[in-house]
Amino acid sequence: MNIAIIGAGYVGLVTGACFAELGNKVICVDNDPEKIALLKKLKMPFYEKGLDKMVKKNVTAGRLVFTDSIESAVKKSLVIFICVGTPPKEDGEADLSYVENVAAQIARNMTSYRLIIEKSTVPVETGSWIERTIKINNKKGIKFDVASNPEFLKEGTAIEDFMHPDRIVIGAETKKAKDLLARLYSPIKSEIVITDIKSAELIKHASNSFLATKISFINSIANICEKTGADIEKVSYGMGLDKRINRAFLKSGIGYGGFCFPKDLDAFINISEKMGYDFSILKSVRKVNEGQKQVFLKKIEKELWIVKDKHIGVLGLAFKPNTDDMRFAPSIDIINHLVEAGANIKAYDPKALEKAESVLKGVTFCKDVYAVAKDSDALLVLTEWQEFKDMDLCRVKKLLKNPLIIDGRNIFDPAKMRKLGFKYISMGR
Ligand code: UDX
Repeated sequence: MNIAIIGAGYVGLVTGACFAELGNKVICVDNDPEKIALLKKLKMPFYEKGLDKMVKKNVTAGRLVFTDSIESAVKKSLVIFICVGTPPKEDGEADLSYVENVAAQIARNMTSYRLIIEKSTVPVETGSWIERTIKINNKKGIKFDVASNPEFLKEGTAIEDFMHPDRIVIGAETKKAKDLLARLYSPIKSEIVITDIKSAELIKHASNSFLATKISFINSIANICEKTGADIEKVSYGMGLDKRINRAFLKSGIGYGGFCFPKDLDAFINISEKMGYDFSILKSVRKVNEGQKQVFLKKIEKELWIVKDKHIGVLGLAFKPNTDDMRFAPSIDIINHLVEAGANIKAYDPKALEKAESVLKGVTFCKDVYAVAKDSDALLVLTEWQEFKDMDLCRVKKLLKNPLIIDGRNIFDPAKMRKLGFKYISMGR
């Protein structure tokens, strides 16, 4: 099939590369000429495991091209995915101006029937607005369908998630749209859930909010564990074995970050309010998540007493491992707070250093774990990279001024750490 992907961000680029890999002819469009120039040189604008190889392979095979012309992409494609950003506004509401703009441009450039699919995470009813916008701008009365096909890609495993999803959700209202999307996804072995557009939009919001709820729930339990002397790792293991609960997303720590959960939760709370429903559960989820950073900071203050002029080493800056994404990373608030309090911060992340340099001020960035540990009064773990789990703890202990590790991600066994001579503080145990 000839496919246009509008918006070469995380979702768009992964989706485009994967559809090309499945044998389709894909045109990826972005209005940022620098990004397009970079992609044409086969350079990725962000790190995602396996993406560079997949892009290279499909560009070489002639199945994947990049352009900044939405016009030519729409003219050449039967199926058009809208994958542009929906950034949060001041009040948390999703800014849909890019989606509207793209919908209007698609309408003006359609030459025959087109299937337009919203893939960006959008509030329920955006499908209807896209349809309206296309109708208004579709002066020649060309036939089209609008569908919703939310993505559930996780950064770091996005390609794997695309090729082996738990489910594919298609929100479509006509047989033609349903058939086209089912055909497009036919090479992928997964259950296809076909619904109306509004239900598909809600599946996405409800899924992300539910996962965020699991995280805040387990973080609340971790706080109770600390007060009672129980161990969150054991509690969460015992809970997760119940198939109805499931072990996933029951890892306690300094809270969720990234560009999806915080933004999607704000947007969902906001749209619910607009519809006259007070989604109080989600407001609590958000509050608990913010509170986890304070819980962690209190641990640092408890151990170091005066933070001012202390040397604090930070391991991990990205919002989670296997990505260089710093957006809404808990590390930002934690480090900013410590810098404001007068601490000297050294930090290292295996992939996010470049992005962190533009976000974090007053931080010395180091080339590895050991440079961070050298002469530090404490070592903080903020992202659970495998590299940190594998570090030479004896060497780290010798380098630290004070053998104190405060671990916001519970990557070590407390008994083992005590045996090695560390003062080891973690979350919920
Ligand atoms: C998420 C959704 O999982 C994905 O389906 C959607 O399409 C986009 O948003 P992503 O933002 O890549 O994906 O990250 P994810 O792996 O889900 O983690 C989100 C955050 O939750 C991270 O900050 C992570 O550290 C945190 N988390 C996750 C926990 O704190 N505990 C857990 O048990 C799981």
